[in-house]
Amino acid sequence: MKIITTIGEMKAAVRVVKDREGTIGFVPTMGCLHEGHLSIVRAARQKTRVTIASIFVNPTQFGPHEDFKAYPRDLDRDAAMLEREGVDFLFHPSPGEMYFEGHRTYVEVHDLQDKLCGRSRPGHFRGVCTVVLKLFEIVRPDVAFFGQKDAQQAIILQRMVRDLDLDVRLEILPIIRESDGLAMSSRNTYLSAVERRAGLVLSRSLREAEVKIGKGERRAETVLAAMREMVGRESLARIDYIEAVDTDRLEPVLEIADGTLMAMAVYIGKIRLIDNLIVRLEK
Ligand code: PAF
Repeated sequence: MKIITTIGEMKAAVRVVKDREGTIGFVPTMGCLHEGHLSIVRAARQKTRVTIASIFVNPTQFGPHEDFKAYPRDLDRDAAMLEREGVDFLFHPSPGEMYFEGHRTYVEVHDLQDKLCGRSRPGHFRGVCTVVLKLFEIVRPDVAFFGQKDAQQAIILQRMVRDLDLDVRLEILPIIRESDGLAMSSRNTYLSAVERRAGLVLSRSLREAEVKIGKGERRAETVLAAMREMVGRESLARIDYIEAVDTDRLEPVLEIADGTLMAMAVYIGKIRLIDNLIVRLEK
Protein backbone atom coordinates (compact mmCIF):
# COMPACT_ATOMS: atom_id res chain seq x y z
CA MET A 1 0.00 0.00 0.00
CA LYS A 2 1.34 3.39 -0.95
CA ILE A 3 0.70 6.29 1.43
CA ILE A 4 0.28 9.63 -0.33
CA THR A 5 0.04 12.97 1.42
CA THR A 6 -0.15 15.54 -1.37
CA ILE A 7 -2.99 16.29 -3.78
CA GLY A 8 -0.59 16.51 -6.73
CA GLU A 9 0.88 13.07 -6.09
CA MET A 10 -2.54 11.50 -5.53
CA LYS A 11 -3.86 12.94 -8.80
CA ALA A 12 -0.80 11.68 -10.66
CA ALA A 13 -1.21 8.16 -9.23
CA VAL A 14 -4.90 8.17 -10.16
CA ARG A 15 -4.07 9.16 -13.75
CA VAL A 16 -1.76 6.15 -14.03
CA VAL A 17 -4.09 3.54 -12.44
CA LYS A 18 -7.20 4.78 -14.28
CA ASP A 19 -5.56 4.04 -17.63
CA ARG A 20 -3.88 0.80 -16.60
CA GLU A 21 -6.20 -0.90 -14.15
CA GLY A 22 -9.77 0.34 -14.57
CA THR A 23 -12.36 0.97 -11.89
CA ILE A 24 -11.37 2.83 -8.76
CA GLY A 25 -13.17 2.16 -5.49
CA PHE A 26 -12.87 4.86 -2.84
CA VAL A 27 -13.41 4.62 0.93
CA PRO A 28 -13.17 8.04 2.60
CA THR A 29 -12.69 7.92 6.37
CA MET A 30 -11.52 10.04 9.28
CA GLY A 31 -9.41 7.17 10.63
CA CYS A 32 -9.71 5.47 14.03
CA LEU A 33 -10.78 2.50 11.98
CA HIS A 34 -12.98 -0.32 13.22
CA GLU A 35 -14.70 -3.38 11.78
CA GLY A 36 -17.40 -1.13 10.25
CA HIS A 37 -14.79 0.63 8.10
CA LEU A 38 -13.11 -2.66 7.25
CA SER A 39 -16.37 -4.16 6.01
CA ILE A 40 -16.66 -1.16 3.67
CA VAL A 41 -13.07 -1.63 2.49
CA ARG A 42 -13.79 -5.32 1.79
CA ALA A 43 -16.82 -4.39 -0.32
CA ALA A 44 -14.68 -1.93 -2.27
CA ARG A 45 -11.99 -4.57 -2.81
CA GLN A 46 -14.56 -7.02 -4.12
CA LYS A 47 -16.30 -4.65 -6.46
CA THR A 48 -13.54 -2.52 -7.94
CA ARG A 49 -10.03 -3.10 -9.29
CA VAL A 50 -8.10 -0.47 -7.37
CA THR A 51 -8.97 0.54 -3.81
CA ILE A 52 -8.09 3.96 -2.47
CA ALA A 53 -8.85 4.85 1.15
CA SER A 54 -8.45 8.27 2.68
CA ILE A 55 -7.85 9.29 6.26
CA PHE A 56 -8.51 12.95 6.87
CA VAL A 57 -10.01 14.43 10.02
CA ASN A 58 -11.86 17.19 8.23
CA PRO A 59 -11.88 20.42 10.26
CA THR A 60 -14.77 22.00 8.34
CA GLN A 61 -17.30 19.41 9.50
CA PHE A 62 -16.68 20.04 13.20
CA GLY A 63 -18.44 22.82 15.08
CA PRO A 64 -16.38 25.23 17.25
CA HIS A 65 -17.28 23.30 20.42
CA GLU A 66 -16.96 19.82 18.94
CA ASP A 67 -14.19 17.24 19.20
CA PHE A 68 -11.94 18.13 16.23
CA LYS A 69 -8.80 18.43 18.39
CA ALA A 70 -9.63 15.39 20.54
CA TYR A 71 -10.75 13.18 17.65
CA PRO A 72 -8.69 9.96 17.98
CA ARG A 73 -5.81 9.73 15.49
CA ASP A 74 -3.49 6.75 15.06
CA LEU A 75 -2.12 6.65 11.55
CA ASP A 76 0.26 3.72 12.08
CA ARG A 77 -2.46 1.46 13.43
CA ASP A 78 -4.96 2.51 10.73
CA ALA A 79 -2.42 2.16 7.91
CA ALA A 80 -1.50 -1.36 9.09
CA MET A 81 -5.19 -2.34 9.11
CA LEU A 82 -5.73 -1.00 5.58
CA GLU A 83 -2.58 -2.67 4.34
CA ARG A 84 -3.79 -6.01 5.71
CA GLU A 85 -7.07 -5.54 3.81
CA GLY A 86 -5.19 -5.09 0.55
CA VAL A 87 -5.87 -1.38 0.01
CA ASP A 88 -3.69 -0.05 -2.83
CA PHE A 89 -3.38 3.63 -1.86
CA LEU A 90 -3.95 5.56 1.33
CA PHE A 91 -4.46 9.29 0.87
CA HIS A 92 -3.60 11.13 4.07
CA PRO A 93 -3.35 14.87 3.46
CA SER A 94 -2.76 17.51 6.15
CA PRO A 95 -5.44 20.16 6.82
CA GLY A 96 -3.17 22.73 5.14
CA GLU A 97 -2.95 20.57 2.02
CA MET A 98 -6.74 20.29 1.74
CA TYR A 99 -7.65 23.85 2.74
CA PHE A 100 -5.48 26.71 1.62
CA GLU A 101 -5.46 29.85 3.70
CA GLY A 102 -8.42 31.78 2.35
CA HIS A 103 -10.50 28.78 1.26
CA ARG A 104 -13.95 30.19 0.51
CA THR A 105 -15.84 27.58 -1.51
CA TYR A 106 -18.38 25.31 0.16
CA VAL A 107 -21.01 22.87 -1.02
CA GLU A 108 -24.44 22.91 0.60
CA VAL A 109 -27.37 20.57 0.09
CA HIS A 110 -30.18 22.84 1.18
CA ASP A 111 -33.01 21.67 3.44
CA LEU A 112 -31.59 18.16 3.91
CA GLN A 113 -28.54 19.55 5.70
CA ASP A 114 -30.64 21.30 8.37
CA LYS A 115 -32.70 18.31 9.51
CA LEU A 116 -31.95 15.57 12.10
CA CYS A 117 -28.21 15.80 12.96
CA GLY A 118 -27.96 19.09 11.07
CA ARG A 119 -30.13 20.80 13.70
CA SER A 120 -27.65 20.22 16.51
CA ARG A 121 -24.56 20.30 14.24
CA PRO A 122 -25.01 23.42 12.08
CA GLY A 123 -22.48 23.51 9.24
CA HIS A 124 -21.59 19.83 9.66
CA PHE A 125 -22.97 18.59 6.34
CA ARG A 126 -21.63 21.62 4.50
CA GLY A 127 -18.19 20.53 5.70
CA VAL A 128 -18.83 16.90 4.77
CA CYS A 129 -20.08 17.74 1.26
CA THR A 130 -17.22 20.14 0.65
CA VAL A 131 -14.51 17.69 1.62
CA VAL A 132 -16.15 14.74 -0.14
CA LEU A 133 -16.48 16.72 -3.37
CA LYS A 134 -12.83 17.75 -3.08
CA LEU A 135 -11.82 14.13 -2.42
CA PHE A 136 -13.88 12.94 -5.41
CA GLU A 137 -12.09 15.45 -7.61
CA ILE A 138 -8.69 14.27 -6.37
CA VAL A 139 -9.35 10.50 -6.39
CA ARG A 140 -11.84 10.39 -9.32
CA PRO A 141 -13.47 7.18 -8.08
CA ASP A 142 -15.93 5.14 -10.14
CA VAL A 143 -17.60 3.92 -6.97
CA ALA A 144 -17.39 5.49 -3.50
CA PHE A 145 -18.38 3.50 -0.43
CA PHE A 146 -20.03 4.88 2.72
CA GLY A 147 -21.73 3.40 5.80
CA GLN A 148 -25.45 3.35 6.55
CA LYS A 149 -24.59 4.27 10.14
CA ASP A 150 -24.38 7.89 8.92
CA ALA A 151 -27.74 7.61 7.15
CA GLN A 152 -28.26 11.36 6.72
CA GLN A 153 -24.74 11.80 5.36
CA ALA A 154 -25.39 9.03 2.81
CA ILE A 155 -28.69 10.61 1.71
CA ILE A 156 -27.16 14.08 1.41
CA LEU A 157 -24.16 12.82 -0.54
CA GLN A 158 -26.45 10.88 -2.92
CA ARG A 159 -28.31 14.13 -3.53
CA MET A 160 -25.08 16.07 -4.10
CA VAL A 161 -23.97 13.46 -6.66
CA ARG A 162 -27.32 13.68 -8.44
CA ASP A 163 -27.67 17.47 -8.31
CA LEU A 164 -24.12 18.13 -9.52
CA ASP A 165 -24.11 15.28 -12.10
CA LEU A 166 -20.98 13.81 -10.53
CA ASP A 167 -19.49 10.88 -12.37
CA VAL A 168 -19.40 8.54 -9.38
CA ARG A 169 -21.74 5.90 -8.00
CA LEU A 170 -22.25 5.65 -4.23
CA GLU A 171 -22.66 2.35 -2.44
CA ILE A 172 -24.00 2.38 1.10
CA LEU A 173 -22.99 -0.56 3.28
CA PRO A 174 -24.95 -1.90 6.29
CA ILE A 175 -24.26 -0.88 9.89
CA ILE A 176 -21.82 -3.19 11.65
CA ARG A 177 -22.62 -3.79 15.31
CA GLU A 178 -20.72 -5.08 18.32
CA SER A 179 -22.02 -8.47 19.55
CA ASP A 180 -24.22 -6.67 22.11
CA GLY A 181 -25.83 -4.46 19.46
CA LEU A 182 -23.90 -1.18 19.83
CA ALA A 183 -23.35 0.31 16.36
CA MET A 184 -19.63 0.56 15.68
CA SER A 185 -18.31 4.12 15.74
CA SER A 186 -14.95 5.75 16.25
CA ARG A 187 -16.59 7.82 18.99
CA ASN A 188 -17.36 4.67 21.03
CA THR A 189 -13.74 4.90 22.22
CA TYR A 190 -14.79 7.97 24.28
CA LEU A 191 -17.28 5.92 26.34
CA SER A 192 -16.49 4.71 29.86
CA ALA A 193 -17.60 1.15 30.71
CA VAL A 194 -20.76 2.47 32.36
CA GLU A 195 -21.54 4.79 29.46
CA ARG A 196 -20.93 2.01 26.97
CA ARG A 197 -23.56 -0.10 28.70
CA ALA A 198 -25.95 2.85 28.71
CA GLY A 199 -25.26 3.34 24.98
CA LEU A 200 -26.92 0.01 24.26
CA VAL A 201 -30.24 1.75 24.72
CA LEU A 202 -30.03 3.09 21.15
CA SER A 203 -29.96 -0.29 19.43
CA ARG A 204 -32.36 -1.75 22.00
CA SER A 205 -34.95 0.92 21.24
CA LEU A 206 -34.54 0.37 17.49
CA ARG A 207 -35.13 -3.32 18.05
CA GLU A 208 -38.22 -2.46 20.08
CA ALA A 209 -39.42 -0.34 17.13
CA GLU A 210 -38.78 -3.24 14.76
CA VAL A 211 -40.80 -5.60 16.95
CA LYS A 212 -43.72 -3.17 17.14
CA ILE A 213 -43.66 -2.60 13.39
CA GLY A 214 -43.37 -6.37 12.85
CA LYS A 215 -46.56 -6.80 14.86
CA GLY A 216 -48.34 -4.43 12.51
CA GLU A 217 -48.01 -1.03 14.23
CA ARG A 218 -47.80 1.67 11.57
CA ARG A 219 -48.44 4.88 13.55
CA ALA A 220 -45.07 6.64 13.75
CA GLU A 221 -45.98 8.50 16.95
CA THR A 222 -46.81 5.25 18.78
CA VAL A 223 -43.52 3.62 17.80
CA LEU A 224 -41.51 6.77 18.54
CA ALA A 225 -43.19 7.19 21.93
CA ALA A 226 -42.14 3.66 22.89
CA MET A 227 -38.57 4.37 21.79
CA ARG A 228 -38.46 7.69 23.66
CA GLU A 229 -39.83 6.07 26.77
CA MET A 230 -37.21 3.34 26.68
CA VAL A 231 -34.37 5.84 26.18
CA GLY A 232 -35.89 8.12 28.85
CA ARG A 233 -35.57 5.32 31.39
CA GLU A 234 -31.77 5.28 30.92
CA SER A 235 -30.46 7.84 33.40
CA LEU A 236 -27.24 8.65 31.46
CA ALA A 237 -29.13 9.22 28.20
CA ARG A 238 -30.45 12.54 26.86
CA ILE A 239 -32.36 12.45 23.59
CA ASP A 240 -31.22 14.80 20.84
CA TYR A 241 -33.78 13.41 18.38
CA ILE A 242 -35.68 10.24 17.63
CA GLU A 243 -37.59 10.52 14.37
CA ALA A 244 -39.28 8.54 11.62
CA VAL A 245 -38.67 10.25 8.28
CA ASP A 246 -38.86 9.59 4.56
CA THR A 247 -35.48 9.12 2.88
CA ASP A 248 -36.17 11.61 0.11
CA ARG A 249 -36.85 14.82 2.05
CA LEU A 250 -36.06 13.65 5.59
CA GLU A 251 -39.51 14.92 6.60
CA PRO A 252 -41.32 13.25 9.51
CA VAL A 253 -43.89 10.65 8.44
CA LEU A 254 -47.19 9.89 10.18
CA GLU A 255 -47.42 6.34 8.83
CA ILE A 256 -44.46 4.00 8.85
CA ALA A 257 -43.96 2.45 5.42
CA ASP A 258 -41.43 0.30 3.61
CA GLY A 259 -38.23 2.39 3.42
CA THR A 260 -39.03 4.71 6.35
CA LEU A 261 -35.87 5.80 8.16
CA MET A 262 -36.03 5.52 11.95
CA ALA A 263 -33.13 7.71 13.05
CA MET A 264 -31.87 8.75 16.44
CA ALA A 265 -29.14 10.73 18.18
CA VAL A 266 -28.74 10.40 21.93
CA TYR A 267 -26.21 11.92 24.29
CA ILE A 268 -24.72 9.40 26.69
CA GLY A 269 -23.11 11.73 29.19
CA LYS A 270 -21.24 14.14 26.91
CA ILE A 271 -20.91 11.71 23.99
CA ARG A 272 -23.41 11.97 21.17
CA LEU A 273 -24.21 8.60 19.59
CA ILE A 274 -26.30 7.98 16.48
CA ASP A 275 -28.03 4.90 15.14
CA ASN A 276 -30.78 4.12 12.65
CA LEU A 277 -32.86 1.56 10.90
CA ILE A 278 -34.50 1.47 7.48
CA VAL A 279 -37.86 -0.24 7.85
CA ARG A 280 -38.40 -3.26 5.61
CA LEU A 281 -42.00 -4.44 5.48
CA GLU A 282 -42.79 -7.97 4.36
CA LYS A 283 -44.56 -7.80 1.02
O1 PAF B 1 -18.12 9.58 7.54
C1 PAF B 1 -17.00 10.10 7.71
O2 PAF B 1 -16.07 9.53 8.28
C2 PAF B 1 -16.75 11.52 7.20
O3 PAF B 1 -17.89 12.30 7.35
C3 PAF B 1 -16.24 11.58 5.75
C4 PAF B 1 -17.28 11.02 4.78
C5 PAF B 1 -14.95 10.80 5.64
C6 PAF B 1 -15.97 13.03 5.36
O4 PAF B 1 -15.01 13.62 6.17
